Amino acid sequence: MTVPLVVIGCGGHGREVLTIARDVNVNPAGPGWHLLGFVDDRPSEENLKRVQRLDVPYLGGTDRLRDAPPDTHHVIGIGDPRVRRAVAARVDRYGIPAASLVHPTATIGPATELGPGFVAFPGARVTTNVTIGRHVHLNQNSTVGHDSVLADFVSVNPLAAVSGDCRLAEGVLIGTTAAVLQGLRVGRDSTVGAGACVVRDIPEGAVVKGIPAR
Ligand SMILES: CC(C)(COP(=O)(O)OP(=O)(O)OC[C@H]1O[C@@H](n2cnc3c(N)ncnc32)[C@H](O)[C@@H]1OP(=O)(O)O)[C@@H](O)C(=O)NCCC(=O)NCCS
Repeated sequence: MTVPLVVIGCGGHGREVLTIARDVNVNPAGPGWHLLGFVDDRPSEENLKRVQRLDVPYLGGTDRLRDAPPDTHHVIGIGDPRVRRAVAARVDRYGIPAASLVHPTATIGPATELGPGFVAFPGARVTTNVTIGRHVHLNQNSTVGHDSVLADFVSVNPLAAVSGDCRLAEGVLIGTTAAVLQGLRVGRDSTVGAGACVVRDIPEGAVVKGIPAR
């Protein structure tokens, strides 16, 4: 048995998310995914061609979710946390459940809570007693240490390290290869630049970069 799945977003992130679902299907822990295709309200011509190469159909705009077959799930394949939040607000009205995808090479430790729409990319690591909200994306080879809390729509980009006991508020983006040291807070909708090292709490709506991050 399989569960129908629609990926929202034809861009690079969305196509990577689709390949995660395919990899999950190789040896599914549950029923496996029947990949119906992509929806996207404004796909570029180039991305439509790239979707074609994956042999998965482009179904149309997000309003196609209105007449999706029963039991269809969705996953939002959009890397920017705040765009992902806006899209979630739009598609939530269709009442279609969000799928959680954990790549077979990712590891999720014990006593961890995962929200709907969670995506763990290849090599992502979550240790223990971590709480993860809705539509959180942990990109390739990123790590999240013990007892941390990642609120809804957080993105941790490739190779970034969130240490133990951190609190990342809703909509936070941690850039590629950045580090957040243990016990720190990052405020709502803040961005930590690629390669930064966060050594003190970051307020809401901030953009910080560098070592130490300012
Ligand atoms: C920090 C960041 C958010 C800044 O974005 P921005 O406000 O558009 O910044 P700009 O590109 O206009 O650059 C502004 C200045 O910051 C510098 N800068 C940009 N990103 C930087 C970074 N990560 N670390 C250090 N300096 C950085 C630029 O060189 C520029 O310096 P200048 O004013 O001396 O010329 C962004 O560059 C970033 O790192 N985002 C994370 C991206 C990421 O993880 N991508 C991977 C996707 S998988």
